[in-house]
Amino acid sequence: MKLPIPQNIAEIVPYPPGKPQDELEREYGITESIKLASNENPWGPSPKAVTAITGMLMGLHRYPDGSSYYLTHAIAQWVGVHPEQIVLGNGSNEVIEFLVKAFVQAGDEVITSHPSFLMYQKFVQVRGGINTVIPLQDLDHDLQKIIKKCTEKTKLIFLDNPNNPCATLISKQQFAKFLSQLPETVLVVLDEAYIDFVDENKRIDIQEMIHSSEGRAGVVSLRTFSKAFGLAGLRIGFGIMHEEIASLLHRVRQPFNINLPAQIGALAALKDTSHYEKTITGTNNGRQWLTARVKELGCKPYPSCTNFFLIDVNGDATALYEAMLYKGVIIRSMKAYGFSQFIRITIGTEEENLRFVKALQICLRELEYV
Ligand SMILES: Cc1ncc(COP(=O)(O)O)c(C=O)c1O
Repeated sequence: MKLPIPQNIAEIVPYPPGKPQDELEREYGITESIKLASNENPWGPSPKAVTAITGMLMGLHRYPDGSSYYLTHAIAQWVGVHPEQIVLGNGSNEVIEFLVKAFVQAGDEVITSHPSFLMYQKFVQVRGGINTVIPLQDLDHDLQKIIKKCTEKTKLIFLDNPNNPCATLISKQQFAKFLSQLPETVLVVLDEAYIDFVDENKRIDIQEMIHSSEGRAGVVSLRTFSKAFGLAGLRIGFGIMHEEIASLLHRVRQPFNINLPAQIGALAALKDTSHYEKTITGTNNGRQWLTARVKELGCKPYPSCTNFFLIDVNGDATALYEAMLYKGVIIRSMKAYGFSQFIRITIGTEEENLRFVKALQICLRELEYV
């Protein structure tokens, strides 16, 4: 091809596209498979969101409200901040992109952990930024090492909290100490996609952090409707931040980045407290039950504060992933993340959890891992 390709773009490894579930079923000759691979909500979308979206479909010929007025106000009230502190995105993914677009220029540095959510590094590469990647230490973010790696070129630090894939959490005390030791010009992004599942008393008080870091680059929290609210397919997430940062992010976004069904659906989901509570309780019960069963089968489950967890299966994780697929159970092998013996599973409904355990028992025996 004659087209000159910028080196930073050529170097990007595309996000691994999963096959559609129907296609996997066809390929593996299975039916009624269950997917415990993407940390989605197994109880489905909020029924109230579905009703609200169905009711607005005849309005699809209109552009959505570019300020997402009602949704922004409802979110602000829910998290206890001013509406000016909220920026909505097409999934929290898009807010990550806004942050990188607004604050990273070619040659600037961004610090992330490995493993953690893959998208941070990709957006940095698109901008021609430099990724400084710090390995997790015992599955936790290595906060001391991150501080040491800050230079005058460091603009952002992304910390997924809980971390994906390890499901570990930074404590309030650790975070406050970390912030106090950071150079003032570095903006810290706490990606809290899974925070809804975490005990309230263990969560970092983001409003307090935003206030206490006034006068320095500050802190941004990212949240999503894709997990506890069950709306991953709708693509809606948001960031909570100081209004000055928000006003900068609004400059780099498209005017209608939040589509109409997403605005209406998320607003209804926010009010559907019973679906939200059912999801949180079901997840907590499922996690306890699954952890006990996995131990009984001779594997090592890792502690988790959220809707997924790691399991050391004592054998090749990818071979187990394949074997489980033939049983109609889709999980995630962590081999590509450098954990060759680990799988990651999402907590499912009671029925799905039972199917997972039965399939795991058979596959572990077939592969002679236990
Ligand atoms: C840590 C983390 N952050 C962000 C996201 C993306 O969320 P969204 O669907 O809101 O773009 C995910 C998705 O799995 C995730 O694991």
